[in-house]
Amino acid sequence: MASHLAIKIGKQSTMAKILVTGATGRLGNAVLRSLVQKIPASDVVAMARDTEKAKPLVELGIEVRYGDYTDYDSLVAAFKGVEKIYLVSAVAFSDRLAQHKNVIIAAGRAGVRHVVYTSIQRINDELAPIEGVTDSDIATERLLKKSGLTYTIIQHPLYANDLPLLIGVNAAQEGFSAPTGKGRASFATYAELAEAGAELLTQTGYENRTCLLNAGQTWSFQEIADGLARLTGKVVKYQPISIGDFIAAREAEGWPTAVAKFLSGWGYAIDKGAFDQSGPALEKLLGRKPKDLDGILRDAFSL
Ligand SMILES: NC(=O)c1ccc[n+]([C@@H]2O[C@H](COP(=O)([O-])OP(=O)(O)OC[C@H]3O[C@@H](n4cnc5c(N)ncnc54)[C@H](OP(=O)(O)O)[C@@H]3O)[C@@H](O)[C@H]2O)c1
Repeated sequence: MASHLAIKIGKQSTMAKILVTGATGRLGNAVLRSLVQKIPASDVVAMARDTEKAKPLVELGIEVRYGDYTDYDSLVAAFKGVEKIYLVSAVAFSDRLAQHKNVIIAAGRAGVRHVVYTSIQRINDELAPIEGVTDSDIATERLLKKSGLTYTIIQHPLYANDLPLLIGVNAAQEGFSAPTGKGRASFATYAELAEAGAELLTQTGYENRTCLLNAGQTWSFQEIADGLARLTGKVVKYQPISIGDFIAAREAEGWPTAVAKFLSGWGYAIDKGAFDQSGPALEKLLGRKPKDLDGILRDAFSL
């Protein structure tokens, strides 16, 4: 029978091969490790531009294939015999759209049926877009929807693990300042997002849909300070600051200006309410409540 057919077992289904890109990165690697808990490793393919780096996955029985987003032919070859792709978005401040376009066109060429793309959460396309991220994600979503392939767009929140980048690794000890105002945001760890992504890949019902994944609740940065204080037993002060002051403070700590500006964009978007949005899909996919604020802060700040 055609490899397009899923063999349904209750709500779950096993598919022909599922390929995950970004296999050597945080998210893609965790998706692969979750996936082999759910379906036979022989149905799982990892794509990496550095196959040597992906070698530990081979020990799990996963086939590793070479593929580079910037090399169209390598993608067509990597996608041969693949039914579904979990496309980890390319790194910020690269030519993301061109890379994603290569993947989507190569997927069509190779006969892939379904592409799942990891996009960024936002209330709408206009409110405080993050430079280097939001525009290319919106354009990729449009391209994928028009591609004729079955699609699923997963909209991710901020990775909880990256909170220390925004508010400082010593936030729990020293308090913190950030350009986040009274804005609220939801988070999730990339491990939870990966586990949910693997679950989604093995289920039906997410075809041609956009799926918002996050903790199911939002927090202000004052609540984050209160959470850190609760966990440490210390006073933790939050000081909202301007974008300019945030960039200057980071530069003074030795951060490259481009990185400081990039992070300030996340703060600005949060302040404007672009991440003030939550939904139940992550809990549904995980089959349990995602980490709450204390769990997120414990993880992110090793408390
Ligand atoms: N929502 C958030 O808060 C948040 C935070 C961080 C990142 N992100 C986005 O989510 C994506 C995944 O996050 P992550 O933490 O897993 O990032 P990561 O650890 O940096 O992993 C990125 C992966 O993409 C691969 N890659 C980069 N360029 C490639 C290319 N030209 N061709 C093929 N593969 C390529 C990397 O390969 P190498 O190992 O060879 O470099 C790596 O496996 C990021 O790329 C970014 O778009 C979102």
